[in-house]
Amino acid sequence: KQAPVITIDGPAGSGKGTIAALLAKQLGWFLLDSGAIYRVAAHAALEAKLDLEDETALVNLIQSLAMRFTDGKVWRNHQEVSLAIRTPVVADATSRISTLPAVRAALIDQQRAFRQAPGLVADGRDMGTVVFPDAKLKVFLTASPEIRAQRRLKQLSEQGIYANIAALIREIKERDERDSNRPIAPLRPADDALIIDSSQLSPEEVLSLILQSY
Ligand code: C5P
Repeated sequence: KQAPVITIDGPAGSGKGTIAALLAKQLGWFLLDSGAIYRVAAHAALEAKLDLEDETALVNLIQSLAMRFTDGKVWRNHQEVSLAIRTPVVADATSRISTLPAVRAALIDQQRAFRQAPGLVADGRDMGTVVFPDAKLKVFLTASPEIRAQRRLKQLSEQGIYANIAALIREIKERDERDSNRPIAPLRPADDALIIDSSQLSPEEVLSLILQSY
């Protein structure tokens, strides 16, 4: 019998990462930040100066990557890339390569491998719709673009990365647009998802809504 999964999907800055981490900690479950997997691939592609539309080259590169996620740190081969994958440039490249079906297929087993007992909390865009369609609970977390941009600004400044609020709102809207309109694994709630708008809620309030439904 497979370990249980709770999926948390939603747009950038909706608070998915925070909520998924709190929930995994509370339940004592594993945590999958699937966006980090796509980001590591995009970061490597930028570094290798690949054409971001060349599916064959991207898949070859992905197959040569060794990713490791330990203690909140992200490693690619022997390089720590925890901060490097969080820049707006990498975010943009990530949403470009993640529109490509071959790229998504090349990364799917790696994501499913995180499903281990006693359970998994998986955060992303298509966790409930594509990667773990049999999840016990599927959450779709949203918030207004302005609130999401403010959260991202705070998060980035804590990491010492300077960003401009108007540019962040624009980037978030562009990324939503691309993530929602791609033909494969678009950002959308699963039919059986619990939809939560976190604009006016604290992380603790969101967490308790989720735990009530589980
Ligand atoms: O969640 P995060 O902002 O780290 O995701 C970065 C990008 O990775 C998203 O904008 C999206 O294009 C892509 N992504 C995806 N599928 C996932 C997680 C992330 O396509 N499951």
